[in-house]
Amino acid sequence: MTARTKVKQALSEGKPGSECLVKGWVRSVRTGKGVCFIQLNDGSSLAGLQVVAEPDLANFNEVCALGTGAAIAVTGLLQESPAAGQALELKAARVEVVGGADESYPMQKKRHSFEFLRTIAHLRLRSNTFGAVFRVRSSLAQEVHRFFAERGFLYVHTPIITANDCEGAGELFRVTTLDLAKPPLVNGSVDFSQDFFSRATGLTVSGQLEGELFAQAFSDIYTFGPTFRAENSNTARHAAEFWMIEPEMAFADLNDDADLAESFLKRLCSHALENCAEDMQFFNTQIDKGLIERIQAVANASFARMEYGEAIERLKKAPVSFQFPVEWGLDLQSEHERYLTEQVVGGPVFILNYPKEIKAFYMRQNDDGKTVAAMDLLVPKVGEIIGGSQREERLDRLTARMQETGIDPESLSWYLDSRRWGTTPHAGFGLGFERLIMYLTGMENIRDVIPFPRTPRHAEF
Ligand code: 4AD
Ligand code: MG
Repeated sequence: MTARTKVKQALSEGKPGSECLVKGWVRSVRTGKGVCFIQLNDGSSLAGLQVVAEPDLANFNEVCALGTGAAIAVTGLLQESPAAGQALELKAARVEVVGGADESYPMQKKRHSFEFLRTIAHLRLRSNTFGAVFRVRSSLAQEVHRFFAERGFLYVHTPIITANDCEGAGELFRVTTLDLAKPPLVNGSVDFSQDFFSRATGLTVSGQLEGELFAQAFSDIYTFGPTFRAENSNTARHAAEFWMIEPEMAFADLNDDADLAESFLKRLCSHALENCAEDMQFFNTQIDKGLIERIQAVANASFARMEYGEAIERLKKAPVSFQFPVEWGLDLQSEHERYLTEQVVGGPVFILNYPKEIKAFYMRQNDDGKTVAAMDLLVPKVGEIIGGSQREERLDRLTARMQETGIDPESLSWYLDSRRWGTTPHAGFGLGFERLIMYLTGMENIRDVIPFPRTPRHAEF
């Protein structure tokens, strides 16, 4: 019995005349005079394998009647293909129909809108676009691990259920086993001391705080996991569940942090171009013309670095009217971020040292008393792709900042302990993995780069 060959391998390594067994799903069936052509795809590559069936086949009529979406296993001989755009095809000797599909299959061979495909997210995986998206996503996830492994970073799995709201934005999803119909009350509010963990808990918004503890023991660490934010913003760039990569380095400052972020992003750009060439070519022609050129430029660019104060000055002078106000002390909105990276710089730019009022409590306070050592990396079309900072390593400053922002230092005493014994300057950042995939594929909606998106009012599948 012949072993199964994946279509990708058959197309790249197959020899005319050699026997081959492929298994996959029918994309289309075309019948001509006494011959039938099947486009077969098994997800291993964008390109499918053309199967040629002729009347010598025992179940020729059954094969000609196959519907799009059917699962089949084909044995035959590879042969040179006379058709344009493919070197090889498979002359079928035996076709087994593994799982049929009738014409009610929702993904017929025509262009469907991304909106429609989101309603059939379980089937859109078998389309060209989503095949390409999820191959690129998988390949980049593996490259993330290689990048950090080469640099001696420890990979740590930080908790998903947590009692801390790292970013302090109040976006925690609650985790509870209390009976919602009649929760225990104390003084009119829910008594979480009777809950599963004897305290109020939620799903993590970031693994950073625990990551910092690991950095204070292993020097260089990273996390790569799911994070959750009950943020009711219905934009093309926000999801309630997304994946984040968070490196953290001890004995490092904001400059080291930006250097790491820059090498990291460039490495991921080169990887996509070199190792996902077929899929990237597809995005370049079908989704975003100019994508490859843009990614190539970024892979070789030196990223600009700009102070927040200067960014505000540039925005004030901009000959365009923004929807949101521009003022020192206000956060940058997506429109401002995109203007800076697309119009002012024309490429990736780090914005450094933001006002402390608009950033999280853990960022290192600068000597000016007004700003903190924060950095956001902005890229064209996406805006913020990375957020990071140097952390406040001085116990007294950190405690004071927590009190100012209404965080009880007692509730994070374990975090403060890292500043009590052997504290070091340290820094890290978070890369939103979906934002990265959007950036590298040109896909414009975060819902189309994550397998089963969770957004307000959506948790199907
Ligand atoms: O800027 P953020 O909130 O930073 C942190 O969470 C820090 N704890 C990271 C760190 O320093 N270790 O989030 C980091 C990145 C953003 O730049 C963005 O790419 C992504 O996470 N992100 C989201 N992606 C999709 N949907 C959302 N709702 C996101 N919120 C943030
Ligand atoms: Mg941010």
